[in-house]
Order: sequence, then C-alpha cells, then structure tokens
Amino acid sequence: MRVIIAENAADVASYGAQQCIRQLQSKPESVLGLATGSTPIALYLRLIESYHRGEISFAGVRTFNLDEYIGIDASHPQSYRRFMQEHLFNHIDVDPENTHVPLGMSDPEEESRQYEAKIRSAGGIDLQILGVGRNGHIGFNEPTSSLGSRTRVKTLAPDTIRDNSRFFSQDEEQPHLAITMGIGTIMEARQIILLAAGESKADAVRALVEGPMTAMQPASVLQMHPEALVIVDKAAAGKLELVEYYQWVQQETLRLQGAYC
Ligand code: F6R
Repeated sequence: MRVIIAENAADVASYGAQQCIRQLQSKPESVLGLATGSTPIALYLRLIESYHRGEISFAGVRTFNLDEYIGIDASHPQSYRRFMQEHLFNHIDVDPENTHVPLGMSDPEEESRQYEAKIRSAGGIDLQILGVGRNGHIGFNEPTSSLGSRTRVKTLAPDTIRDNSRFFSQDEEQPHLAITMGIGTIMEARQIILLAAGESKADAVRALVEGPMTAMQPASVLQMHPEALVIVDKAAAGKLELVEYYQWVQQETLRLQGAYC
C-alpha cells in the first residue's frame, strides 16, 4: 500500500485525477470502477476538464459503479445513476451503454449476479476509485462484511444512514438497503485508489492504513492489495503514526522518477 499525503482536498482530487488520466492514456479501453459520495466529485471535475482539453477520451471506456440504493429508480435525484450522470457521464464522450450502475429497482439478487457476470465479461476492473466511510466501509460493505464477499444486497449501518441523510430532504424516504460490489469483487481490480479528505475521516484512515486487517474496518483489506494507493489530505492523515515515513517515500519516489526520466 502506498500512502500519499496531499496538502488539501483539492490536491487529493488532482493527484487522483492524474492517476486516472495516466491510466486512460496508457489504456484507452480501460474498465473503471467508480464511486459516488462527496469525495470523488472534484476528481470527476478534473477528468471532465482533461477530456475538454483533449488529453483523454472515454469513447472506449467501460465503467462499473460500486453501489446503488434499493427502492429508488435511476431518475430519482438521490440515485447513484443520477449522481454519475450529473457529475461525470453527461459531460464526457462515454457510450451510455458502457456505463453500469446496479439497478436498485429490479430483482436485487438477480441484479447482483448479473453485475458480477458483466464485470467478468468486461475483463475485470483496471482501476477502481474508492472513498471510505467514517466507519471504514468501502462501497456499502459495512463493518463485519465478509472480506471475500461478492456483489449483493446489504443493509446500511445506522451511522451510514445518518451520514448520508444530508443528501435527502426531511420528507423523503431514505433507503436502508443497497446493492454493493463485494469486498472480494473490489479486491480483484488491478489497481485501487482510495481517496479521503477531512478530519472526519482520520480514524478510518488510521485504521485502514495502520490498523490490523479486520472485517470491522472493511477498508483495511486494501493492505492485502498489491497495487493500492491511498491519497489523503493532511486532515485525514492527522492520526497516522508514520506520516514522516510516507512523506519520505513520496520524496524518494519523485527523486527516482526524476532520475529515470
Ligand atoms: C459511494 C460509496 C461509499 C462512499 C463513502 C464515503 O459509492 O461506495 O463507500 O465512498 O461513504 O462517502 P463520502 O465521499 O460522501 O464521504
């Protein structure tokens, strides 16, 4: 696992976007795993800007989102399909047929099986973007989720429901169930980038980077991934013990890259 400590949330997004841009430039037919939530919005904005500058195209890209609420349809303002349309897909040249967000209105068990099959037939995910919940969840794999789980229906934890209530108006019914890629599914991505910003994520970041690997902190499973990059701002890195080491590795990496360029 490599840890990058950026100055602030804007730099987290820029650094994450650079990795995605590099991926798309080296493999224009990449399969991307995408996340919703507040964290990746600025990264998506940078990808849109890069697309408009002609640096990247999404024409050959296929995308698979991590999760979707059960019980609200794609046109619902809080659906993750709608989120992706508004924050990314409507602004780039991706073929709508190649964008996949689980369907929360169909038979969710069958949808989960089909979602796994679609990821497999796309050849697997090249680059997976993740955020992390304050309770350490990735996707909607809440604490105690099996570290080997596949795409399936999950009941959201009460703290996740509370955290996400900011997106729903008071008179709106907030779903308690979601379809989510499993932790085993996520771990099969060839490369994973997890982004976190803000003090509210400091405990989760500490647990995922330096804590024991445990289903109580699902993101800690990334310690087992050979190509996991964790990009955090200074506030989210606030409880890490080995900050100086991560900064040293960062400097050394830049120095070595310079030496080989
Ligand atoms: C979203 C997702 C979640 C979020 C996490 C952090 O598709 O899978 O795991 O990444 O809840 O959300 P934010 O970024 O809103 O703090």
